[in-house]
Amino acid sequence: MNIENKTVLITGANRGIGRALVDEALKRGAKRVYAGTRSALQNADKRVTPLTLDVTNASQIQRAAVEVDNLDVLINNAGVAIYDDLSNADVIEQHLAVNLLGWFKVTRAFLPLLKRSKGAIVNDLSLAALAAVPVLSAYSISKAAAFNMTQSLRAFLAGEGVTVHNVFLGPIDTDMTRGLEMPKTSPESAAQGIFDGLEKGEEDIFPDAGSQPVAEGWRTGIAKALERQFAAFVPKSGANPE
Ligand SMILES: NC(=O)c1ccc[n+]([C@@H]2O[C@H](COP(=O)([O-])OP(=O)(O)OC[C@H]3O[C@@H](n4cnc5c(N)ncnc54)[C@H](OP(=O)(O)O)[C@@H]3O)[C@@H](O)[C@H]2O)c1
Repeated sequence: MNIENKTVLITGANRGIGRALVDEALKRGAKRVYAGTRSALQNADKRVTPLTLDVTNASQIQRAAVEVDNLDVLINNAGVAIYDDLSNADVIEQHLAVNLLGWFKVTRAFLPLLKRSKGAIVNDLSLAALAAVPVLSAYSISKAAAFNMTQSLRAFLAGEGVTVHNVFLGPIDTDMTRGLEMPKTSPESAAQGIFDGLEKGEEDIFPDAGSQPVAEGWRTGIAKALERQFAAFVPKSGANPE
């Protein structure tokens, strides 16, 4: 999907990859960018509409869905990552509340608009969705769960003309990876990679130097083949989420 003249909503848009996605969408000629944030956001570009949107807050989600009257692309980007060692269930719940259920609720709220526009859902997952990063174990669980959820959504929505794109990001230089000594891609470059992948129609996007080496193996691997095989169980009509 080409971003020019499209309406895009990005969650977690005030910093990191989310902010870079806002700038990149504007560069590519988006007609309107809804920037979902928890705190007030200022952007000089008139095409940016700030939206108060904590993805764990049901009434904010509901209000945002009323405020937006048209949407082509939803980018689920808001996320948390806390170091842990699987010693505390609260940490798992904290991650699931944002990285899984937050995304689920936001997606459900905007689905009617996306069905109308035959739009796209872009999910900022992580390589940690494919293999656990033990020092970020609760985070990895939440990304794996979100990945699994979006595989089902992809199958359910295929018949409605809504495409679901999973982004498997490698290490990106944001607050989330502050203090981690390893090669990192800039958020600006990652945002370009995400929109390039979307514009090429890639359902699985590997947008950065850390993730690109995984792309070929993923696309030709057994897990992807199983995804397609299992998706075929979805009846051609009648099983799509309302
Ligand atoms: N950086 C990486 O290496 C990397 C790698 C793989 C995947 N990712 C994924 O990419 C996405 C963005 O990460 P990032 O690196 O840009 O992280 P970041 O710099 O830490 O920014 C996180 C963003 O999510 C927002 N957020 C957190 N909880 C929220 C909630 N309950 N409701 C709404 N917004 C919330 C934050 O808002 P506040 O400012 O209000 O806290 C902030 O805008 C995440 O989903 C992350 O898992 C990142």
